[in-house]
Amino acid sequence: MNIVKLHATTSTNDELKSRFRESELPHLTTIYTMEQTRGKGQQGATWVSEKGKNLTFSVLIKENLQKLSPFKLNQVISVTIVEWLKDELQIQSKIKWPNDILSVRHKLCGILIENVFAKDKMAYSIIGIGLNVNQEEFVDLPKAISLKQITNREFDLEELLISFLEHLKKNLRNPLQIAQNYNKYLFNYQQFTSFNSSSGTIEGIVKGTDLDGKLILEVQGEQKAFDLKELQWV
Ligand code: BTN
Repeated sequence: MNIVKLHATTSTNDELKSRFRESELPHLTTIYTMEQTRGKGQQGATWVSEKGKNLTFSVLIKENLQKLSPFKLNQVISVTIVEWLKDELQIQSKIKWPNDILSVRHKLCGILIENVFAKDKMAYSIIGIGLNVNQEEFVDLPKAISLKQITNREFDLEELLISFLEHLKKNLRNPLQIAQNYNKYLFNYQQFTSFNSSSGTIEGIVKGTDLDGKLILEVQGEQKAFDLKELQWV
């Protein structure tokens, strides 16, 4: 595996993207860093992570793209994280649609996938993952949690990363099969749930996701699909 460790960078997603533009890199090249000065979260948010305490890394996906739609890739990554946490660390977690991994109802991990297109075809994907590992305090982030807070153990970041990448490599051999487990780990699956929307509260039973990655809710007996612009978690 081609793993690059950096002391600091702006964002591992951006770093991997610009290195790949300069020279061809092998599939699954991974960059991880002790510090991000401009870590990126979903929807233009900033990803903040205490220096040297957590895993902030990006993985280059070059293969399988013909078969995998962007949302299928998101499903494979989400399921891989949850199953890896369960199998390797005995930690139960859930996928909070579309990009968060929760444990004990707190955010343990965030995913930012950037798909790069060339001539209208998906050329490659950058999988950015921020996993809270050894951080003990989250100032202004009351809904965050780390592995250390869950287990009372300190983790070796590099060992953890290698173990995760091995799971990912294995799962990418059979991605469609892995993606099938998505609903099993979906937060609030089959539960009546309230969401915010621009037109007020939307309530319904979480039924899964459609092919485009929209969340399907059963609202008053009818199944409807919502994207992130139409629906926010309360
Ligand atoms: C989110 O939950 O909003 C997604 C967070 C993704 C953070 C990771 S950290 C490594 C990679 N580099 C970035 O700039 N962002 C992702």
